[in-house]
Amino acid sequence: MSIATTDLAGLVQPAKGTVSRQVYVDQGIYDHELERIFTRSWLFLGHTSQLAQPGDFLTTYLGEDPVIVARGKDGQVRAMLNSCRHRGMRVCRSDEGNTSFFRCPYHAWTYSNTGELTGVPKFRLGYGGVLDKKEWGLLEVPRVEEYGGFLFGNWDAGAVPLTEWLGDFRLYFDLVFGRDPEGVEFVGGVHKWSVSSNWKIPTENFACDMYHVAHSHARSMEIGLLGPSGDDGYEIAAGMGFLGNGFGPPASADAEGAPVHPMATMATPYSEHLAAQRARVAERYSQEMSRVVPGGHGNVFPNFAFLDIELLRLVRVHHPEGPGSHTVHQWCVVDKSLPAEVKDALRRQYTLTFGPSGMLEQDDGENFRECQASMRGVIGRRMENNLMLGLGQDRTGAEIVGDGDAPGAGGGIWSEANQRRWYEHWLSFMTGQVRR
Ligand code: FES
Ligand code: FE
Repeated sequence: MSIATTDLAGLVQPAKGTVSRQVYVDQGIYDHELERIFTRSWLFLGHTSQLAQPGDFLTTYLGEDPVIVARGKDGQVRAMLNSCRHRGMRVCRSDEGNTSFFRCPYHAWTYSNTGELTGVPKFRLGYGGVLDKKEWGLLEVPRVEEYGGFLFGNWDAGAVPLTEWLGDFRLYFDLVFGRDPEGVEFVGGVHKWSVSSNWKIPTENFACDMYHVAHSHARSMEIGLLGPSGDDGYEIAAGMGFLGNGFGPPASADAEGAPVHPMATMATPYSEHLAAQRARVAERYSQEMSRVVPGGHGNVFPNFAFLDIELLRLVRVHHPEGPGSHTVHQWCVVDKSLPAEVKDALRRQYTLTFGPSGMLEQDDGENFRECQASMRGVIGRRMENNLMLGLGQDRTGAEIVGDGDAPGAGGGIWSEANQRRWYEHWLSFMTGQVRR
């Protein structure tokens, strides 16, 4: 099915605050997303702490395309399509490891960790020794760039640099991941799981949805996992919004620096460290800017997401897997400078709350799955979803954070301003108006 630009503009109306459910269920729209968004956007590949040594590798996806990300023997990080040039078999089946070569499980063509074809069984007997191995290496992703240790890849050789893609959102990215002098590391390996919902449903949640927290996660609050129950204190919190390709995070403290949302009011082994980081941010930027620590939910368009709260920090990607499914790849993130026992406590809190069997992840996963299930029917898909929360109440970043230098704009914490803006962005990609 080919998608007319006018059809899409009719389906998604951010100014009005409506989104047709077709965008979650229609195969043609989904295929268009793979083409228009996932071959032209900077997509998260991994963190340099996962690829510290030559030969270290991990496997992931860029859109639906499987890729190997490897630090070659020359020290350079490359991303390569994980598909054998012989007859297409997935060359590497492991999540991560260290190797000097990848051998295809089917007929044993062998590639170096820099992607060259180095070994072909029956090279003389079968191919007469004339197959040009230089022509048949793994397909390399043309652009791989790093920001603060975060590696992104892009299938579009003409894409703007990653730093330009992140734009002024880099300030908030730094407040989430670069506020400690030694930087961050990924610990505990990757969690991977599939959810029967369109990839945009969790993306909307991470972009960021504070509206669901008090209700969907009420049980977690009742047992003290999230801090006090109810909405008390929420009203004074402000939601940072959209900035180029970045969405979220909310300001999580009031003007005096006191945390205001439930996720930010838990005393944890990490609290003292966070308080010191707030003080450092206050000194470097301003007292007001320290309100963004920790940063809450966030999203970098299209499918990179993070959560930064008093309990933990995590990074995840919502990989598209057909209109009705996505696969999550998720990691626990800690500051390198933390003592080993605090890193371990954070990893356990991460597992307990937002790991695949974590209490809060169960709440959210059920929401995502059931949204999809009720929208895919013949009648259900004809309807529109409502993104009108806080419509007409947007404010500038300076007003939200209280610092005149805070870039961006957004709504209050009770707002779907970020989601409306996210769909505006989605629409510009889908209709070809966006500059690469
Ligand atoms: Fe890989 Fe044949 S498909 S060697
Ligand atoms: Fe949630």
